[in-house]
Amino acid sequence: MQKRVSLTQFLIAEQRAGRVSPDLRLLLEVVARAVKAIGVNVSKGALADVLGDAGTDNVQGEAQKKLDVIANEILLEANEWGGHLAAMASEEVETVHQIPFDYPKGGFLLLFDPLDGSSNIDINVTVGTIFSVLKNPLAGQAKDPTERDFLQPGREQVAAGYATYGPSTQLVLTVGNGVHGFTLDREFGGFVYTHPFMTIPAATHEFAINASNVRYWEKPVQRYIAELQQGKDGPRGEDFNMRWVASMVADVHRILTRGGIFLYPLDDKTRAQGGKLRLMYEANPMALLIEQAGGAATNGHERILDIKPHKLHQRVAVILGSKNEVERVTSYHHEA
Ligand code: AHG
Ligand code: MN
Ligand code: MN
Repeated sequence: MQKRVSLTQFLIAEQRAGRVSPDLRLLLEVVARAVKAIGVNVSKGALADVLGDAGTDNVQGEAQKKLDVIANEILLEANEWGGHLAAMASEEVETVHQIPFDYPKGGFLLLFDPLDGSSNIDINVTVGTIFSVLKNPLAGQAKDPTERDFLQPGREQVAAGYATYGPSTQLVLTVGNGVHGFTLDREFGGFVYTHPFMTIPAATHEFAINASNVRYWEKPVQRYIAELQQGKDGPRGEDFNMRWVASMVADVHRILTRGGIFLYPLDDKTRAQGGKLRLMYEANPMALLIEQAGGAATNGHERILDIKPHKLHQRVAVILGSKNEVERVTSYHHEA
């Protein structure tokens, strides 16, 4: 039988190779512990009364589910006291979350979408957690980080990842040396290294988009999707398959497993806000993972990882996945 490698062993090997500092290793261990706890809550469902609405709205004006609130609290609490973080930012929190003054502060900033795919919670379909790690530009100074310190382009991320709470709980992460997947062994209680160096083929026959918005999309996206739908009889000369889970984590996980393209483009409904998905804790971490796996990620015009953010909860159009397809849609935007 092949020897099993745990997440801890993987991270220690990364530390010895000089790719992960002791503090970043601690941070990733703590995030892994937190997502394990979130996974336990997700899987209890109705038994633990965690389904349904919390009865509150978040800063984006979206109704919070109970699990949005629970997952956010688990991540904030788990990461406050270890001394590895300078501050946190969350989809569910309006402003920067400071580390309480009685704990030491570290050199990193952590951003997260605690529960991605909230509309799937009550129907028992895969949801997830997305996270992004940046360096604190104020490291070594006595000042608390402000929103401005978080506003770094995605290419500055030192780590990024997500957890999927599906038939199995998986943790997928990058520290800038490829994409690595781990599966939670519930009996043994730890993550096991199951998916080394996940890669995305450049070509694909699978696309993911919420096609109910077709009349709101911009022309280049309408053209691209229409061509895919025409299949063998259209300009592409081949058939394409469609999938839309409505949990970005699950859609991206499928793409990292077998290829594909995911689009949440700018449309008439979301134009005023800049798009639907959030740049700092959805698009950026996913874009880093996708690029690390050999794929591409743009907003139709530029590389996601090069966008200079101007606010914490900024939204953005997202097109990511298999390189050939992302480059094609992006070229349609340029032609238009
Ligand atoms: P969240 O649950 O964190 O608000 O994110 C939901 C996002 C993303 O996961 C998914 O791809 C998209 O919203 C689904 O949007 P539609 O319901 O418009 O299809
Ligand atoms: Mn989300
Ligand atoms: Mn969310």
